[in-house]
Amino acid sequence: MNIGILISGNGSNLQALIDACATGHIPATIAVVISNKATAYGLERAKQAGIATVVLSHKDYASREDYDTALTKTLEEYKVSFVCLAGFMRLLTPAFTQAWHDRLINIHPSLLPSFKGLDTHARAIAAGVKFTGCTVHFVRPAMDEGPIIIQAVVPILQDDTPETLAARVFPFEHQCYVEALRIVTQGQYKIVEEKVILDKPSTISQGIVHPRN
Ligand code: GRF
Repeated sequence: MNIGILISGNGSNLQALIDACATGHIPATIAVVISNKATAYGLERAKQAGIATVVLSHKDYASREDYDTALTKTLEEYKVSFVCLAGFMRLLTPAFTQAWHDRLINIHPSLLPSFKGLDTHARAIAAGVKFTGCTVHFVRPAMDEGPIIIQAVVPILQDDTPETLAARVFPFEHQCYVEALRIVTQGQYKIVEEKVILDKPSTISQGIVHPRN
């Protein structure tokens, strides 16, 4: 399976997917990494792994529709059949999400459907919830919505800041994204009534991860 990965920034999730594809743990090839920002460090990670990179700046397009059409065209040029959003900080048009229906997944650093959107860790801390985590899900037209493949739960500590919490959630994001893409590329799931049914239970989705301190 040829995969395309869309990024905007550091690309630590991208790196986890690059590593898991390189070892064969995920039976797929990353055909192209596309960024809407030329300065995204993830582009360097892709280049270091010998993966093709493309910068598509949204500033070069008159409308969201035009931009998303260019995205699909580029993905098709690289013969991509499945797309991963990995810190891609742009809303996608319904035309794009429908074109890639059930072939497009995203990671979000909260336990969806809680805390959709930006500044998730700050909002979780402000709300006083005791647990947060991360979610990998199929993408639907509404932001941060869609059938959930896998989640990990991470406790929020009394003295957490958005930064300390993010740092504790990130390793679980990487684990969850790798596990979700493995499940999907191995076809070990089905979507029934907008819910993901896994062929085998995933240890990550069942675990509460206790804090180290
Ligand atoms: C992650 O927290 C991801 O969940 C969110 O954006 C961040 C991207 O981080 N969608 P990275 O670029 O993968 O390091």
